[in-house]
Amino acid sequence: MAEITRRTFVKLAGVGMASTVLAACGMNRDNTQQLLPQPVSTPSADFVPDVEIALRAIEDRVEVRSGTQTDVWRIEGNLIKGDDGVVVPVAGSYLGPTLHLKKGQKVRIEFTNELPEVSIIHWHGLHVPADMDGHPQYAIDKGETYYYEFEVLNRAGTYWYHPHPHGRTGPQVYAGMAGFFIISDDEESALGLPTGDYDIPLVLQDRTFDDNDQFVYNGGGMMDQMIGFLGDEVLVNGVPDFALDVANRAYRFRFLNGSNSRMYKLGWSDGTPFTVIGTDGGLLEAPVTRPYLTLAPAERLDIWVDFGDRSVDTDMKLVSLPFDNGNMNSPEFPILTATIARQSTDTATLPSQLSTPNFFDISQAEQTREVVLAQRMGSGWSLNGRQFEMTGVAEEETIRRGSIEIWEFINKGGGGMSNLPHPMHMHGESFKVIERQTSSGGQTAWDTLSEGVVDEGWKDTVLVMPGQRVKVLRRFGDFTGLFLYHCHNLEHEDQGMMRNLEIKA
Ligand code: C2O
Ligand code: CU
Ligand code: CU
Repeated sequence: MAEITRRTFVKLAGVGMASTVLAACGMNRDNTQQLLPQPVSTPSADFVPDVEIALRAIEDRVEVRSGTQTDVWRIEGNLIKGDDGVVVPVAGSYLGPTLHLKKGQKVRIEFTNELPEVSIIHWHGLHVPADMDGHPQYAIDKGETYYYEFEVLNRAGTYWYHPHPHGRTGPQVYAGMAGFFIISDDEESALGLPTGDYDIPLVLQDRTFDDNDQFVYNGGGMMDQMIGFLGDEVLVNGVPDFALDVANRAYRFRFLNGSNSRMYKLGWSDGTPFTVIGTDGGLLEAPVTRPYLTLAPAERLDIWVDFGDRSVDTDMKLVSLPFDNGNMNSPEFPILTATIARQSTDTATLPSQLSTPNFFDISQAEQTREVVLAQRMGSGWSLNGRQFEMTGVAEEETIRRGSIEIWEFINKGGGGMSNLPHPMHMHGESFKVIERQTSSGGQTAWDTLSEGVVDEGWKDTVLVMPGQRVKVLRRFGDFTGLFLYHCHNLEHEDQGMMRNLEIKA
């Protein structure tokens, strides 16, 4: 019964999309090349991809802990067209392959779902047309294929991909479905930052194992529903006790918090400060220094880490420091050990200027919209009192294409269970964090994490602590249609803390 309803819905959605696209082509000739209209189920004959990738979501078993197999769901990839190095599998891990694309490339990705439930993949942080964004209305069944075709418009940076089906994002990501989507561009390449073996993506994910070394997920439980899933150990790139041999030279580490709900407060155990060079949407204007790093779910931080003055055979340990944050208190966790294993003669220097971010000016904002983040009694979480509806969009969520606006996320906090951080994410173009205000009631929790927060640079996910109001400035272009904004605590998202916004011509 549910099956029939869903199939009917997909068909209707397909028809609706085709007519919207046709109308848009007729009326906006200057935008036809960016709209790249596509039917859902077949590749387009007039889209000529530079890169073509096949991704499959499969059930598999992976040796996460040594000596035993853990059941996972994961994304497997093959390169159909393009250079070697576009699809890089993560050896010995459930993670999906790391995809390496260049700004300006046209990419076709055929995604085949071989899981026993519906799924769809979202390219987190990418600016793509609405029907290429992995909105849950396009979720496909087992045996079906969805063709994505888009041009890479984003700046160089550390993006990622993960499933986005309605109500099932948390369990699917937890089961192993996620991967890096790394974009390079000429501006970044000209800097001569560390590349290849010296550029290391690192995703942090917490998991709980049962006695048979299987993942335990209890996202339906009362506490997980309210707080979000918190595992009892941290895997890096899908591996427990992650260890890395490095040369005594400079590296670029790209941290992604790929956890469902857990926040991290990353610190080197010897107190070495961090040099941050990038955030969600790519390189900062100039490097910034932090004593530790606060990383909320879905956020990325790229750091420049120089082992150049360390002697061979010493090591450095990265931990998540304990912090006190209402209902999301966190103990100390080991994260990784970097062993300086070889001498290097390579010297790289950190550029003092990294990029020209071209931020918008606040004076360009046409209006401010407020989004109140709150609990709904007995039924999860809400945004301005509303919960997710598949294609539902309120008047105040309708935006004119190309407009620049301020969105203010308001986390009143409050007592008991509602006292939680919410990492707010918007699909489509990146934003700039322009203001963060903390109420006196929220100050204590904020003080435990504030020095590690990096609000600089282009962002797509921003931490909103209990008692805070955070304003972001962004443009809503170039594509019309339904895009999502939501809390990236995946249990909150699955429990309704997500809405559509509609960009209209
Ligand atoms: Cu990474 Cu809508 O999500
Ligand atoms: Cu996203
Ligand atoms: Cu939340």
